Amino acid sequence: MLDELERVEREALASLEETQDVESLEAWHKRYLGKKGALTRMLRSVGSLPREERPAFGQAANAAKQTVEQAYEAWAERLERREMEMELKESAIDVTLPGRPVDFGHLHITTQTLRHIYEIFGDMGFQVYEAPEVETDELNFGLLNMPPHHPARDMWDTFWVDEGVVLRTHTSPGQIRAMREYHPDPIRVILPGKCYRYEQVTARSEHQFYQVEGLAVGHNITMTDLIGTLTQFARRFYGGERRIRIRGSYFPFTEPSIEADIDCILCKGEGCRVCKYSGWLEIAGAGMVHPVVLENGGYDPDEWSGFAFGPGVERPAMLKHGIDDIRVFYSNDLRFLRQF
Ligand code: FA5
Repeated sequence: MLDELERVEREALASLEETQDVESLEAWHKRYLGKKGALTRMLRSVGSLPREERPAFGQAANAAKQTVEQAYEAWAERLERREMEMELKESAIDVTLPGRPVDFGHLHITTQTLRHIYEIFGDMGFQVYEAPEVETDELNFGLLNMPPHHPARDMWDTFWVDEGVVLRTHTSPGQIRAMREYHPDPIRVILPGKCYRYEQVTARSEHQFYQVEGLAVGHNITMTDLIGTLTQFARRFYGGERRIRIRGSYFPFTEPSIEADIDCILCKGEGCRVCKYSGWLEIAGAGMVHPVVLENGGYDPDEWSGFAFGPGVERPAMLKHGIDDIRVFYSNDLRFLRQF
């Protein structure tokens, strides 16, 4: 029996060091020290021994159990510490690693274009004047010489917000606001901003887009001033010695009205797909401010004159950068936006 006790003790101590995690340690504990464990069973068997053998064996069995239990506790503590150290190592923050690079954004192509336009007109003495995007019917149409039922209203497909309230279809209502604010001084402003039209979205047309209106009011302002201003703009915005072509047009709020074209920036007037083989590209509607509009703004048309123009922003950017679809501006595809 004593031999058997020694064997079990040796085996227990040897196999203890083979356990490498909590689970196998528990299984080991059950095998030797559990209720039905080998050592526990040996201790219980003392009673079945002949009386004279009991004290010696009982002492030896108790000593063996104590040794094994102490070894178990020491090993369990070691395993626990090792697991904790590994956990700490895995979750540790390595302060010597380089930080994650910050992803810098940049200005949207529309904002870049707007700022370029502000700079050009700013150099010509124009101030930026901002007007609301939700307008009254009166300012968007009526005071611009388009009373109710005027057929020219059909030129602008309109989002109606409420009776007599619209999402502005163009930046021209800002002309009246600027005139009423600056009257009786001369004016030189540009009016940038979003416009809204209830129209079909195509490669050339969005239902929401930007315009930059221009307005100059003063004494002896003539069509020559308008053409000079547009030519200067075209040369700085599109580059080179751009030529300007003026065609007659119609807007209810300018008289006479014109349409300004530049020689095609791609083929230099030779004719290509972009200019539909005409050699010319349209850049803005414009004209001399209509006497009725001057009067509505508080200026006497017998004393004052002025010019106004109204290019878009996305279409000029498309021409400048060779973009063939306006829809990419606001579809948030970074592959497009990162190119500018
Ligand atoms: C006007 O809106 C006039 N208010 C311009 C004007 C101002 C004329 C002052 C005379 C004096 P028009 O509808 O043509 O005109 O629009 C002007 C520009 O806005 C166009 O040349 C184009 O660049 C841009 N534009 C118009 N509709 C859209 C659209 N759906 N999507 C993108 N750009 C547009």
